[in-house]
Amino acid sequence: AEDGYDMWLRYQPLSDSSLVKDYRKQLGTLVAPDGPAVIESAAQELQRGISGLLDRPLERSDSLARRGSLVIGTPETSELIASLGWEDRLAQQGPEGFLLETTRIGRRDVTVIASEGDRGVLYGAFHLLRLLQTQQAIEELAIAEAPKVQHRVVNHWDNLNRLVERGYAGLSLWEWGTLPEYNENPRYRDYARINASLGINGTAINNVNADPRILTDQFLEKVAALNEVFRQYGIKTYLSINYDSPRAFGDLDTADPLDPRVQQWWKDKAKQIYKHIPDLGGFLVKADSEGQPGPQGYGRNHADGANILADAVAPYGGVIFWRAFVYSPEQGDRFREAYDEFKPLDGKFRDNVIVQIKNGPIDFQPREPFSPLFGALEDTNIMMELQVTQEYFGFSNHLAYQGPLFEEVLDADTHAKGEGSTVGKILGGEVFEYEQTGMAAVINPGTDRNWTGHPFVQSSWYAFGRMAWDYELSSEAIAEEWMRMTFTNDRRFLDPIGEVMAYSREAGVNYRNPLGLTHLFAQGHHYGPAPWYDEAERMDWTAWYYHRADEDGIGFDRTESGSNAIEQYHGPVREHFGTLDQIDEDYLLWFHHVGWDYKMNSGRTLWEELVLKYDEGVQQVRNMQAEWEKVQGLIDRERYEHVKALLEVQLRDAIRWRDSCVSYFQSLSGLPLPEGSPEPE
Ligand code: GCU
Repeated sequence: AEDGYDMWLRYQPLSDSSLVKDYRKQLGTLVAPDGPAVIESAAQELQRGISGLLDRPLERSDSLARRGSLVIGTPETSELIASLGWEDRLAQQGPEGFLLETTRIGRRDVTVIASEGDRGVLYGAFHLLRLLQTQQAIEELAIAEAPKVQHRVVNHWDNLNRLVERGYAGLSLWEWGTLPEYNENPRYRDYARINASLGINGTAINNVNADPRILTDQFLEKVAALNEVFRQYGIKTYLSINYDSPRAFGDLDTADPLDPRVQQWWKDKAKQIYKHIPDLGGFLVKADSEGQPGPQGYGRNHADGANILADAVAPYGGVIFWRAFVYSPEQGDRFREAYDEFKPLDGKFRDNVIVQIKNGPIDFQPREPFSPLFGALEDTNIMMELQVTQEYFGFSNHLAYQGPLFEEVLDADTHAKGEGSTVGKILGGEVFEYEQTGMAAVINPGTDRNWTGHPFVQSSWYAFGRMAWDYELSSEAIAEEWMRMTFTNDRRFLDPIGEVMAYSREAGVNYRNPLGLTHLFAQGHHYGPAPWYDEAERMDWTAWYYHRADEDGIGFDRTESGSNAIEQYHGPVREHFGTLDQIDEDYLLWFHHVGWDYKMNSGRTLWEELVLKYDEGVQQVRNMQAEWEKVQGLIDRERYEHVKALLEVQLRDAIRWRDSCVSYFQSLSGLPLPEGSPEPE
């Protein structure tokens, strides 16, 4: 049955028979060294993938065949690779990069996957498989690839009781009850394969709202067993830790980072942890945020807090991902908080600390301007955190490919060092001289057969991984790759569904919060609309806080006459967002409070435009349905019907969003619905 379990690693026999014939000729034998586990994983994946795609077993051998060998390895592990004399070229790509080329060894034609490091060989193997899966020509390959950021990490918000915060795809993958004894659960290996296929090299396996017990021997043994599987795919394990652990363990009555006893406690703890897991990547920390403990509780700052952890893991090569997602009810504009807290600390963090910044200033909203911290921290390593799990996008019920959102932020120009200082380039270390950078994404896989709930949530995981490898890839090209690998190479599918994927995110913006509105979600679950004011709630957890609508108008004034958050951006960006006739209307109400009769570029009033946008969102879901109907029969029935049914749910929800928001805002504006707009349903 096609249940989506294989994700994009399906390796079903290819249908283009002349292509298959050529592929078979060229890839007749696999020559792979015995040796390192990661190279072994590469060899196994190639055997599995090529055997499946070409529908005939791929033999493995120690020596070249007369024709058509695929040779993989590093100069250290393979004499054949060493004989190519590519050391300098490989050094340029680094241990995670690779060369994938057709060439000759002696008088034999070969296809080569070579790297300085074992991981590069694995990534090259997946690259070749992707070329086959998407039916590309391979007879003349000269590919040189290397990832643009060092840390490409997935984050799980999994609790130790296996409930997943914002997960929506079943229980946590980690079966704590049967670990460490049972780590052969095929899910663990397949999970690692899925990530490695994208070049993901780290996983933070537990919730950032961290349970201190993750650092007990009992759990560390279990983590070590998981890590043994991940390691074979070049993936490092990271742990989310609770800042108050020294107290939670009952060892100390404080977690003050400047108290020498606390510093010693973390050093001892690190020793204990690394005894269990010698290659642990390090810690991910949410501190002084949403009720989590942190250094501020002891009158210290984020750098004080991060640095003692950094010192504790440094002897083992560990790093600290310290999150910048902070805000408190007292502050006037939540938008400002991360910047206001972190900017003054620039340059005060250790080299093995990386500040992990969400893409936008608030919280994974359907559309946010980029966080002004990108471009502001010149002397502090940073990484970006994205969200694949659809906390604000209809959970696992809505089709909302996140590639365009990721692309939007990566392409955003911070102007930190003049034009072209995009967020992507900053993360690539091309703007400031960072020691290390990264990209992280909160993903949602659980015990659902297809891992992610909605089959299309897989596409956002895929897009994250591909963009973490290369931020210049387009969301459109990535969507096409994903569809080809996950569903079919049939153009009759790729064209319409490619379109659907391209606008699915914008549809989600339109029916929830168009024109720069944000966070109109019901508090707590974040699924449905609650745009109104709720007295019982914390102020910054009510929608009114974000939209500020009244009889006269709507929008959050973040210009000089308001919270002046725009001052956190560099000049040209400040001017763009701050000036009414310059700002891209998609961001209008993020930065300006304007009257209901404000004239939009279209000539309509803001009120009219708003209502039409809401309706456009609903219409887009109807279009998605119509396009999906067209591909019936081009893919398996099971996934076809699943997506079809979910689109009905999505339409139901989109209508509810539109009608709730429009009628609430109408109760303030007092204006009639513009001509031609549909009756509430
Ligand atoms: C959001 C989300 C929380 C999560 C938090 C975080 O606010 O709703 O569940 O803990 O982000 O990123 O820390």
